[in-house]
Amino acid sequence: MDIKPIKNKFKELFSENPLLVRSPGRINLIGEHTDYNDGFVFPAAIDKEICFAVAKNNIGKFRFYAFNLNEGFELEVDKLAKTETLWANYLLGVAAQYKKAGYQIKGVDCVFGGDIPMGAGLSSSAAIENGFAFALKEIFGFEVSKMDMIKMAQKAEHEYVGVMCGIMDQFASMNGKENNAIKLDCRSLNFEYANIILSDYVIVLCDTKVKHELASSEYNARRKECEAGVKILQKHNREITALRDVDIELLQKYKIEFEPIVYKRCEYVVKENRRVEKAFASLQQNDMKTFGELMYLSHEGLRDEYEVSCSELDLLFTLARKSGYVIGARMMGGGFGGCTINLVKREKLEDFYETIKTGYLQTTGVETEMHIVKIASGTGFSNEY
Ligand code: GLA
Repeated sequence: MDIKPIKNKFKELFSENPLLVRSPGRINLIGEHTDYNDGFVFPAAIDKEICFAVAKNNIGKFRFYAFNLNEGFELEVDKLAKTETLWANYLLGVAAQYKKAGYQIKGVDCVFGGDIPMGAGLSSSAAIENGFAFALKEIFGFEVSKMDMIKMAQKAEHEYVGVMCGIMDQFASMNGKENNAIKLDCRSLNFEYANIILSDYVIVLCDTKVKHELASSEYNARRKECEAGVKILQKHNREITALRDVDIELLQKYKIEFEPIVYKRCEYVVKENRRVEKAFASLQQNDMKTFGELMYLSHEGLRDEYEVSCSELDLLFTLARKSGYVIGARMMGGGFGGCTINLVKREKLEDFYETIKTGYLQTTGVETEMHIVKIASGTGFSNEY
């Protein structure tokens, strides 16, 4: 997106010559709710981003301006804590992590804004956290690595936003690479880039335009259910520390000890981890059909076993699958709203749009928004700089 309006606003409000930073949102091809189970994910950064203009100030204050909301915020650096202004907490949460690590922030001016739709499951929050972490590192010369920033951004989300998220979003936004998805092992944090050449297909996101209230409480509840499953299995093998260590045979062996709900959740995670590995392999063999099938299975698991889908996501999924224009589709991200991700035949894009738009409107009365996305590079300096 064009960073000029952000830069100009900064000049109008604060001073000359801010540092200009951009930080992207992410998609996830497959591997949902596996990151906090030490498993595998397959995300990529996208060409929708948050842009920042940032500079030090010498007045001991945080002075922020949210461009999309036309809203300002001020707080003395000494009073750093979670506030009532929800959007400011994403930035303050990052500053708090630097403070905890022993770095001193004297005062910061920041204008930020972007084109990542909010609440659509494209990790606008991770993009904000990463971008601000990167900007602070640069303007104050903090000696932190990319991995340190990713972890601080994740902690900011835990402590200042209250979602006990895994590491996928912050990792993908920071380490994104043009035309490449990232197969990440969320335990070792080793990762491999996979060149995504979709030739005949386009990645299209269909936005339900809903975000159900229960998204974050249910998210945290799923984490607990997974931990409950691990506790049972640990009694039999102390080396099991996460669902990552479990295969379906082992799970079945102890099924009787599980509450049915906990069992369903664990079964989903174990199967989804295998799907990520299969999907990665099929992409390398250019086997799009298998890749797409795995996406369908992922959605069904999220809907029936993990139960984080909702009627709007299921509708978009079903419409896409029935359309004959896609090779794979599924809900994406935490669930309870947000987007589906669809691999759509390039020459059928128009027909796809029409089918989904009409079908979704008829049942829900809501217009879906669709975005074609390209895979982009991660958090960094803006080209304008
Ligand atoms: C949210 C979280 C991620 C991940 C996904 C589900 O996006 O922030 O860490 O758990 O949900 O895969």
